[in-house]
Amino acid sequence: MTRFLILFVVNFLVFEVNSIIAPPKEILEISVEIFNNWKTVRKDFMDSMKHPMGLPHFNCSRPLLDGPKSVHQLHPSQIDVVAALGDSVSVAQSAKSSSILDIFEQYPGVSFVTGDDVALAEQSTLFNMFRKFSPRIKGGSSDRIRKFYDFNLAVAGSFSHELPAQAKNLARVLKRKLGRDNANSWKFVNIFIGHNDLCNICKNETLYGPENFGDSIKTSLSIIQDSIPNVFVNVMPPINVQIHSQAHKVSPFCELSHKQTCSCIFDLNEKEYLDIKKQFDDKLKEVINEFNDKSKDSKNFTVVIAPAMDLKSIPLLGEKPNVGLLALDCFHLSPIAHDVAAKQIWKGLFEPVTEKSVTNQLSVGFDRFVCPPKKCPFLRTDQNSESCEPPKELRSLQIIPGNTTVGLDMPTFFLPFFFIIGTASILLFVRASFRRPSSEFSDERQYLLLPIRADLNDNIF
Ligand SMILES: *[C@@H]1O[C@H](CO)[C@@H](O)[C@H](O)[C@H]1NC(C)=O
Ligand SMILES: *[C@@H]1O[C@H](CO)[C@@H](O)[C@H](O)[C@H]1NC(C)=O
Ligand SMILES: *[C@@H]1O[C@H](CO)[C@@H](O)[C@H](O)[C@H]1NC(C)=O
Ligand SMILES: *[C@@H]1O[C@H](CO)[C@@H](O)[C@H](O)[C@H]1NC(C)=O
Repeated sequence: MTRFLILFVVNFLVFEVNSIIAPPKEILEISVEIFNNWKTVRKDFMDSMKHPMGLPHFNCSRPLLDGPKSVHQLHPSQIDVVAALGDSVSVAQSAKSSSILDIFEQYPGVSFVTGDDVALAEQSTLFNMFRKFSPRIKGGSSDRIRKFYDFNLAVAGSFSHELPAQAKNLARVLKRKLGRDNANSWKFVNIFIGHNDLCNICKNETLYGPENFGDSIKTSLSIIQDSIPNVFVNVMPPINVQIHSQAHKVSPFCELSHKQTCSCIFDLNEKEYLDIKKQFDDKLKEVINEFNDKSKDSKNFTVVIAPAMDLKSIPLLGEKPNVGLLALDCFHLSPIAHDVAAKQIWKGLFEPVTEKSVTNQLSVGFDRFVCPPKKCPFLRTDQNSESCEPPKELRSLQIIPGNTTVGLDMPTFFLPFFFIIGTASILLFVRASFRRPSSEFSDERQYLLLPIRADLNDNIF
């Protein structure tokens, strides 16, 4: 079955790009028919879903506050940096794919965490929501180019045991790019990982199991605590990948795709997955509690669990699982789902740590937004969840709803070099288009002109 999809992808590519080499007809016909059918079905779901994208009327007031005294009194307007660690979900793999040719492409510009290609009026992302309060915020991502201050360092295909390396990389990149500002800027770091572990757990229960997951989170948090000053860490438990099998009854393409990308959901049943998922969740809670106990007196570090995307099932549309929330690969999140995720996580930031809400049926179509509540306008932590003291000085500044104008995302000393760098990039870009794309990930994410990777891994997340 693995071979089958590879053939399908490669042959289709060859067929599209160079119709001289005709692929074996049978495979192509069946596959293309299934694929096109899935595309139509998915489009119908997207068209009939009533989900208002973005928040065009967002008008929460923005208080002018001095730097926070503590991470437990951190207002959104005091966040200077948004960063993301994790796997392909955080880099929005497949999100905007419209054909089989770009199904493995990444679209970090619409990522629910750092997406900066979309205005808040078009699609919400944590980055463009925070920016309403903190206009000079850094960390946003674009699909077209890796910006200087792009702090989405998630890597597609990552397992949780690779998270510590990402954390080290983040510390290094922040230090290098923020320079002296690193010491006093406040960071919101989102972590969303574990999907590849869950998709592969039937192959090695130790390597991809809950113990290893917990240990990796622990190590990564230690690295962050020791080497990144002033940080609020938002850890999202991984989605129970087994719920993806609910899409199988909508389209055979989904089944085909999942055999390739998340085969363990065919080997373990629903109950077994619920058990495994519970072990992951328990482990995560244990690690986070331990961490917060240990750093009780710290004013510059905290970690919170954000269960916003801890779905129990794919939300329904009519009687069927709403596949309009899924990307064209039937696995990743569509831009609508990225919008839903950002709104739900944002809402959760102001809910006490034990009472955070999870995306459900009602989250889709959600048309209201949450402003930092007057009673407690801070990002909730274990220490301000029960009792919270609002700031005394709340000089308010009205936020005007509408599109944010996007400024140049680079330090001013770079401006003279802009033209040179720009020209050089264009030349490199043109050259790159003649090169075979490499599948190696380096520090900087690579943008491939032809995003198809023939050497598909087991882990697509
Ligand atoms: C935002 O707009 C809504 C409705 O347009 C209004 O009721 C609300 O008072 C406004 N909020 C602020 C903070 O101006
Ligand atoms: C599972 O992974 C562990 C750790 O990498 C390794 O030592 C062990 O041999 C693997 N087990 C199997 C069955 O592959
Ligand atoms: C956080 O603050 C403590 C003092 O409260 C200090 O010792 C520590 O170095 C700070 N950590 C970082 C990473 O800046
Ligand atoms: C924001 O910009 C988009 C396109 O640039 C436009 O279609 C939309 O109407 C704008 N929204 C507001 C509230 O100005």
